[in-house]
Amino acid sequence: MENISYKDSILHLENVSLKEIANYVGTPFYVYSSESIRENYLTFNKALEGTSGRVFYAVKANSNLAILKLLGDLGAGMDVVSIGEYFRARAAGVAGEKIVFSGVGKRREEMKAALQGGIKQFNVESESELFALNSVSMDIGKIAPISVRVNPDVDAKTHKKISTGLSENKFGVPLTAIQGFCKKAADCSHIELMGLDVHIGSQLTELEPYGKAFKKIAELTKCLKADGYNIRSLDLGGGLGIPYNLHTPAIDIEKYVDLVKNHLLGLECELEFEPGRLIVGNAGLLVCSTIYFKETETRNFLILDGAMNDLIRPALYDAHHEIIPVKEPLPDSSSVMVDVVGPVCETGDTFARSRKLPLMGEDELVAILSAGAYGSVMSSEYNTRPLVPEVFVKANQFSVIRKRPSIQEILQKDIIPTWLN
Ligand code: LLP
Repeated sequence: MENISYKDSILHLENVSLKEIANYVGTPFYVYSSESIRENYLTFNKALEGTSGRVFYAVKANSNLAILKLLGDLGAGMDVVSIGEYFRARAAGVAGEKIVFSGVGKRREEMKAALQGGIKQFNVESESELFALNSVSMDIGKIAPISVRVNPDVDAKTHKKISTGLSENKFGVPLTAIQGFCKKAADCSHIELMGLDVHIGSQLTELEPYGKAFKKIAELTKCLKADGYNIRSLDLGGGLGIPYNLHTPAIDIEKYVDLVKNHLLGLECELEFEPGRLIVGNAGLLVCSTIYFKETETRNFLILDGAMNDLIRPALYDAHHEIIPVKEPLPDSSSVMVDVVGPVCETGDTFARSRKLPLMGEDELVAILSAGAYGSVMSSEYNTRPLVPEVFVKANQFSVIRKRPSIQEILQKDIIPTWLN
């Protein structure tokens, strides 16, 4: 993880003590480094130099308005998958013309709102969606710019739940059906076909699947151009994997960009990229307190106040997150094998199994690392646990960027019908 270090034996993010934040906001809480997000965005943007590529940050990875504002101010466009995300991007000051609307199931009212508010393009994934978009555009007298999402039938070699580029997945239009799709798009009076789009999955750690997908996209682009379609933009999706521990290397961005250049530069298309995790994943962490240490005959359990509802990645994808104490362990302190778990009533509420950690008692702070992407955004109020607050750090200052709701606020959302009284 970036920008974390022990200072005076306490874990800091940039120059802010996590203990100080915990005292202020209570645990559990998410905290993000603005400097890491800046660096990650600028590094990727710089790597794209010479490709005409533009970044459309995948809002789903972390959609807090403060993060969108930071990225928007740096010049990033946004990739959204719901009208809610669209309005988040707009509220953060991003122009509609810098927003790409992705997703396999856009509803008509979402299409309408985006068309009325301004949108760069819709990434369309089926004929049904194409016709729905055409009729919505016709109703309001607008032309909808689109890219067609291609399903290239490529194995991204990542977790099966986040693979999206195989023919068995729900995403995109099969390669073999693209020409027919384009013909139909050309016949739609209120659709303007501009480009192709491909996204084969998330947390890719190998380049080979990208190479295969880009090769197919390049061939397809040439065919479509030869058929007279004005293909002028290629959206290459996101998916770039990050290291979750010391043993999994980051994907090599330079080599990724080389692949892009080798396959796609000669096609005279504007390139679009939709990274999410790469920008925010290693910029954030979840800080929890230990509640109890429990020993049984066979295992030791370290029970935290954070749980699967706060960070679901380990339960859902068997994802690995490093876990470290906020107080630096002494060099000679003893360690113990533990299962790190939350208080939720499910065995799946486990952050790590058989992890070697320094011996910790009650009420000590631990940090679950690399939780900036798909952490807070996937959290829920399961077990009537309030959504975890979010904190943003810049150098030696921090700000709460989402408050923890009170139990009262949660209860107020429910309505007991009068006929029960
Ligand atoms: N573009 C599209 C069309 C996507 O579906 C996604 C992610 C992205 C871009 C951004 O992908 P990234 O660069 O972040 O890998 N919840 C899962 C990840 C789901 C990703 C879904 N789509 C996790 O926690 O690993």
